[in-house]
Parts: sequence; structure tokens; C-alpha cells
Amino acid sequence: VSSGSRSASSSTDDAPFQPVRWAGDALELIDQTRLPAEEVWLRCERPEQVADAIRRLAVRGAPAIGVAAAYGLALGLRESSGDRLDEVYDLLALTRPTAVNLRWALDRGLAAREGGYEALLEVAHEIAADQMRADRAMARHAAALFSEGDRALTHCNTGPLATAGFGTALGALNQAWTDGRLSHVWVDETRPLLQGARLTAWELGRLGIPFQVVPDATAGALMSRGLVDRIVVGADRIAANGDVANKIGTYTLAVLAQRHAIPFYVVAPLSTIDTATATGAAIPIEERDPGEVTPNGTPALNLAFDVTPAELVTAIITEAGVLEQPYNESIAAALRRTGR
Ligand code: MRU
Repeated sequence: VSSGSRSASSSTDDAPFQPVRWAGDALELIDQTRLPAEEVWLRCERPEQVADAIRRLAVRGAPAIGVAAAYGLALGLRESSGDRLDEVYDLLALTRPTAVNLRWALDRGLAAREGGYEALLEVAHEIAADQMRADRAMARHAAALFSEGDRALTHCNTGPLATAGFGTALGALNQAWTDGRLSHVWVDETRPLLQGARLTAWELGRLGIPFQVVPDATAGALMSRGLVDRIVVGADRIAANGDVANKIGTYTLAVLAQRHAIPFYVVAPLSTIDTATATGAAIPIEERDPGEVTPNGTPALNLAFDVTPAELVTAIITEAGVLEQPYNESIAAALRRTGR
């Protein structure tokens, strides 16, 4: 572990802040558990270190986990010349169950195993580059839905930290701000690990976008006072029918949005759509250590994600465009169009 310098960041650079980066011989990750207090970089030379970083949320957010895991697989091949690759695949795949990008990225890597270490490394670079392109496209499609002066509410963290690119929901907010269609962001603090209060606030501050953090339970009051024009979130897995798994608390927002007739948008790349999962009921939901919620062994249920039924989602914005209900059809058509 070494302290690193602050990288330059801006809303329009092609490579904004790079929280997941290849250092030539190792994977470097900014330790997200230490933000915003400290910018500490982790150096991973072995797949076990990557798996550990994913498990303890030093790197998190569905697409960023996928990118990190792809590099982890390459590191596994470097040290074992293939003998242990299936074991390394399992080690990485089992770190977190809900984000489907993790397995998707590992499968992409595994398919290139015959090419050796260099080929796997190339796949990891490609996944990272594809994510950046997808993020940019999603941001453009989503920002076009905004109107001047909009106040948006978001949940969890979906910026460069979460995708190793431009961000999903936060990328859309960044683009809307640049285009003059956004005036304010309400940031749910996102209990219990405070991805909103710690990470989204840190990113929005760097981008110069006006925001206020609110305790999660404040969202309904904001909506009833007419202070929210749009709700924009990311996703960890989207089922074939459009049901969306995302950070715990997302479902609550979607129900409130319906009550207040506020558009509820999910911004996610096609790699987050899992057509092998028919509905949200089949999405595995990660349950984390109660100790993250309560001290001293007090019993707690710590679900990391919830499922928002497709009927509550106004639009799913992907790099292939804005998808609308019925999602079974719009998702299948988008995947066909893009040759997936
Ligand atoms: O537990 P986390 O912090 O990995 O959860 C992240 C989220 O829920 C994000 O909203 C999701 O991964 C989409 S981010 C691009």
C-alpha cells in the first residue's frame, strides 16, 4: 500500500479520474473504503489481492468490479501459466454475487485463455475502454431527457469510482450539468456504507456540480415538497424483463417516485443486463456482515441490494439508447441491434 498523488479530473477530459489503472505489471486501485478522508492506492500483483479488494469494497460498483476482476484473471494466468486459472476464476467470481458484470468480464477473459497472459491483459484493457465508451454514450442519451433547471436525486455511487470510466447515473448527471440541464443533485447518503455521502459527494465536489447530501429517509419529504424532478440510479443486474437490482433503498425510491409522478431512470450498460435471469426474483442478493450495520454483535439484516420491479422504471438508459416498457421486448431488440 502506498499513498499516491491526486490525478487531475474534469467533466470533459477523455480520461477523467482513473480509480482503476494498470501500472504495467500490477493493478492499482484507489482504496474506496478510505475515501474521502485519504487517497490511498492499493497495488495488486496477485489475484488474491484483487479478490480481497473486491470483497471489502476497496473497489466497488458493478462495472468497476468487472474491470478489476478481468485484470485479476490476467494476474492469475501470469503466475500459474493456466494450471490454476479455473480456480482463480472461481475465487474472483465468488467475491460478490449480485453484480453480473463480474462474471461477464471473467467469462470474456476466460474465452481468451489460449492466448496467454498478454491476451488476457488485452481483454482487460478492452473491457475498460468499452466501459468508457458505453458510459459516454449512456450519458448523452440520458442527459437529453433532462430539462433546464432540473433537480435530480441519486442513490449510492455511480461515477468514475463505480465504473472505472465516466460513470453511469453520475455520468448522466455530469453530462446534464455540462449541457445546462441540471441545477442541483440530492445525494442519498446510502446507508450503511455511505457510498453517497462519502463517494458521490467526493466526485460531485471535484466536478463542481452543486449538491447536498440527505439522509436516505429524507427522499420522500423532498419529493412531497416538489424538490425532485428526476431520480437517476445505476444497476448491478437487470433481468430479462427489466427488473433492476441496485443498492438497497433503490426500490423505496421507485415506489416514492410513482406516488409523486417523478421519472425514475436506470442508467446501465448492456453488460449489466442478464437475459439468463428471467425476472428479479432470480437475482441473488448479497447479504453482508451485520457488523457493518450494528456494533457489538447486535443482530442486523444487512441486504446490500434490492429489486425494483420493471413497472416502476420509467426508462433504462443504455449505450444502445433509451429503452422503455415493455422491457422484455426493448431489451431483446437492443441486444439484437448490437449483436449481443
Ligand atoms: O455495493 P456497491 O457499492 O458495489 O453497490 C454499487 C451500486 O449499487 C451501484 O449503483 C451499481 O453498481 C451501479 S454503479 C455504476
